[in-house]
Amino acid sequence: MKRALILAAGKGTRMKSALPKVLHPICGEPMLAHVLRAVDGAGIDDVTVIVSPELDALLDGTAARPRRTVVQEPQLGTGHAVQVALAAMPPSGGPLLICSGDMPLVTSELLRRTMDALAGHNGGGVERIACALVTARMPLPSNFGRIIRDAYGHVRSIVEARDATSEELAINEMNAGIYAFDEAVLREALPRLSNRNAQAEYYLTDVIALAVADEHVVVPVPCDDYRITLGINDRVELAQAQRIMNAQLCERWMREGVTIEDPETTYLERGVELARDVTILHNTSLRGRTSVGEHSTIGPDTELTDAVVGQRCHIRRSVATEAVIGNDVVVGPFAHLRPGTVLDDDVRVGNYVEIKKSRLGKRSKANHLAYIGDAELGRNVNFSAGAITCNYDGTSKNRTKIGDNAFIGTNSSLRAPIEIGEGALTGAGSVVLHDVAPGERVAGNPARPLPTETKSKT
Ligand code: UD1
Ligand code: CA
Repeated sequence: MKRALILAAGKGTRMKSALPKVLHPICGEPMLAHVLRAVDGAGIDDVTVIVSPELDALLDGTAARPRRTVVQEPQLGTGHAVQVALAAMPPSGGPLLICSGDMPLVTSELLRRTMDALAGHNGGGVERIACALVTARMPLPSNFGRIIRDAYGHVRSIVEARDATSEELAINEMNAGIYAFDEAVLREALPRLSNRNAQAEYYLTDVIALAVADEHVVVPVPCDDYRITLGINDRVELAQAQRIMNAQLCERWMREGVTIEDPETTYLERGVELARDVTILHNTSLRGRTSVGEHSTIGPDTELTDAVVGQRCHIRRSVATEAVIGNDVVVGPFAHLRPGTVLDDDVRVGNYVEIKKSRLGKRSKANHLAYIGDAELGRNVNFSAGAITCNYDGTSKNRTKIGDNAFIGTNSSLRAPIEIGEGALTGAGSVVLHDVAPGERVAGNPARPLPTETKSKT
C-alpha cells in the first residue's frame, strides 16, 4: 500500500485572509484540489490531509474534500503535523509520501519519481533508503529551506531560511517539501525533534539530519523545473502560480488544435473543454465547466462561466453564465446572458441585450437593447430594440410565452404573466397587459387590437 500525507493545517498567515490558504483558488479550483489530483495520479491509494479545525469545517462541498483528514490543533510546525498524523494511523510497512497542500503546480510524475527513488529503482541498488526528497535550484533570494550537502555531495541536512547563516543563504539548492519516507525511520526520528529554532516550531526538515546521524541514506531527487515545486505563501506567489498554470492550460489546448490569439490575456480554468478549431481572441476568460464546440470564436473581451457553446458560434465582448448556446449563434458585442439562458441554433443576440432563465427558439433575434427574463420564445421571433419582458411585479417573477414568428415591436413592454400567440404582433411602444391571440396585432398603452386590415408600422 502506498500512503500519502498532505500538510495543510498551517495558518497561512502570509495570505492575510479569512480563507485558509489551501482553499484559495487557482485556475478555478482550490490549491489543495490540484495537489490531491497530483497525488491520485501518482498511484497512491491512501491519502490523509492534515488540517486545522477551520479548514476541516470548510472542506465539505469543495473539490478539495479528501477521503481522510487528521486535525492538528494547535499547529506547532510541519514536524508536529506529521507526528499528529502518524499517531492517528497504524504503522504500515510501505512508503510514505509527504508533500504540502500549498504546491498546486506539483505533478504526478514528480511524486512518482520521488517514490521510485525511495524504492531504490533509480539507483538500481539494493541499499535501504530512509528518505528521498525533491530538491530544486532556484533564483535567490528565496524563503525555501536550503539543502546542505557534505564534501562528497551527500545530503546532510536542511536549514530553514530563517535559521540560515549568510553562507547557507547563498546556496540555491532548495528543499521542495516533497519527501518519500521509510515510515519506520520517520516514526523513530519524529519524537526527537526540537523546536529550538527561529520559529519555535517542530520542523519536519530536521528529520533529515537525524536520519543521516543514524547512518541512514537520504537521496536527493532533483527537479529541473523549480516552478512546479513553488509553494504558495502569499498572494504574490498565488498570482505567479496561477499565471504558470494558466500558461500550461493554454499550451495544452493549443496543442489540441485551439487557436489562442493572445495566451497572455486569455484565462482558462481547468474544467474548460474546447473542441478543435475553436478560436479564442484576446482578453477572454473561460471559467468553470465551460465548453465550446468546433469552429466557434470566443472573444475578444468575453467571459464565459459554466457555459455550453455549440459549433460555429461567435461570442464577442459579452458575458455568459450558465447559458446553453446552440450552433451558428451570434452573440454580442455587449450581451449579458444570465443563468438559465438557452439559445437554439441560428439565434442572434446583439448589443445591450440581457437574457435570464429564458429560451429563444431557432432563428429568433433580439438584436438591440432588450431584456428577456423568465420567457419562452418560439422560432423565428423578432424581439425588437427596447422591448422588454416585465417579469417582476414587485413580489414575484412571472413567465412570458411568445409563439413562433411573433413580432415584438420596438419598445414593447410585455407585462408577465402573458402569452403572445404565434405570428402575433405588438406595435412600437405598446404596453401589453393581456394575452395576444395567434395572428392578432395589438398596439398602444394599454395595447388594444388593431383592425385586421390595418398595416401597423413597427
Ligand atoms: C517548508 C519547509 C521548507 C521548504 C518549503 C517548501 C519546513 C520546516 N520547511 O517551509 O524547507 O523549502 O516548505 O515549500 O517544513 N503545516 C501544517 N502544520 C503546521 C505547519 C505547517 O500542516 O503546524 C503545513 C502548511 O499548511 C503548509 C505546509 O505544512 O501546507 C508547509 O508549511 P509552511 O509554513 O508553508 O512551510 P514553509 O515555510 O513554506
Ligand atoms: Ca510553504
